[in-house]
Amino acid sequence: MNILVVGQGGREHALAWKLAQSEKCETVFLAPGNGGTKFEDKCENTNIEATDFVAIKKFIVEKEIGLVVVGPEDPLVKGIKDYLSATDVLVFGPDSAGAQLEGSKIYSKQFMFDCNIPTGEAHFFNTEEGAIKHLNSSNYPIVLKADGLAAGKGVLVAQTKEEAIVWVNEVMANSKFGEAGQNILIEECLYGTELSFMGIMTPKEFIPFETSVDYKPLLNGNKGPNTGGMGCIAPSPFMNDELRENIFKTVVEPTIKGLNDRGISYYGFMYFGLMVKDNVPKVLEYNCRLGDPETQCLMMKIESDLVTALLDALQNKKINISWRSGSIMGVVLASGGYPENYKKGVPIKIGELNECKLFHAGTVFTEEGLVTSGGRVFSINHYANSLQECKHYLYKHIDSVNFMDCTYRDDIGEIYES
Ligand code: AMP
Ligand code: GLY
Repeated sequence: MNILVVGQGGREHALAWKLAQSEKCETVFLAPGNGGTKFEDKCENTNIEATDFVAIKKFIVEKEIGLVVVGPEDPLVKGIKDYLSATDVLVFGPDSAGAQLEGSKIYSKQFMFDCNIPTGEAHFFNTEEGAIKHLNSSNYPIVLKADGLAAGKGVLVAQTKEEAIVWVNEVMANSKFGEAGQNILIEECLYGTELSFMGIMTPKEFIPFETSVDYKPLLNGNKGPNTGGMGCIAPSPFMNDELRENIFKTVVEPTIKGLNDRGISYYGFMYFGLMVKDNVPKVLEYNCRLGDPETQCLMMKIESDLVTALLDALQNKKINISWRSGSIMGVVLASGGYPENYKKGVPIKIGELNECKLFHAGTVFTEEGLVTSGGRVFSINHYANSLQECKHYLYKHIDSVNFMDCTYRDDIGEIYES
């Protein structure tokens, strides 16, 4: 069958790479793909943008696409599944009602409150005055979140009142995130270790993937501004049976019930962003898609056929997924200046990578060759028996990839607790 992967990041490169390995797959098309997917076996880029639903629908008919796998949140929140429901194609991803769990942080927080799902206390504000009044009587640190989508950059853990007020001014008065920041949440700061718990969700069940840990802040030591993610390890060294059971009982099962109770028939990836302390999970956020850069690690770790698993989920059949033992680690190579301003069009040189797998993100192939086109440019990944081996091998090879002002964290694999 022909498959269409919607998106152009590192996550989509990894998904396309894994889906293409299936015997069931003829060609994986990407809308639009990147400089890496262009050269991947059985993969073909298109010039269709991820939110151009009209062009996507036309392409699906033209190429007889049997399965659409949606990578990023934007097309899901904008209703790609709803739009394509008039066609016969199978779409792996929730409809816009399901995607609201990510599309609005206020909606998702209210959902958690209503379903008794453990999460931080929070208040919602639609005026700057209301937010500042609240900040004047709060304890610090405190967490500020833009309600809508902000490409992973809409959250600030403010250490002081002054910092919090500057953020409220920038986001609410000066519209730093546009409409997405017109409503905000001010949330209790939670402590512990973070866990990315994701998998396949249907109205009946949740099949978890291996756990992973994302390194969100820009700088070593988990310092600096939050980014989309600067590195990843899988599995999480903190995972254990008691924690898994607690996550299922207090988070996963009430989420499935909450969605069903609201008449939302959710078929797609689900990502629970959790803060864990003493094996007790609290939800930081829901994502209605897989994580980036977590997916790059997870796709290297899945042993079984992903196309079969996605089709089985969509057809309410038994879903089987098996995993390779061992560890995976990935490090993101970003453009200098990310997550703020950075240059694009910078030439890239790639040397000998041996057993590292390079997934492209912000790259594009032009007449001048491969150049940068985004903030996060690559993630370089390695699979080994242990995390120590991954670390050693990856950092030995990382400088084989080179572009001007390339920046990366050199502490991925260290474990931090807040
Ligand atoms: P979110 O997009 O809501 O997951 O937030 C992005 C990141 O901000 C999370 O991965 C955490 O590192 C941090 N964060 C979000 N909410 C909280 C919270 N209530 N307490 C502490 N850190 C948080
Ligand atoms: N790496 C975190 C995310 O994809 O949201």
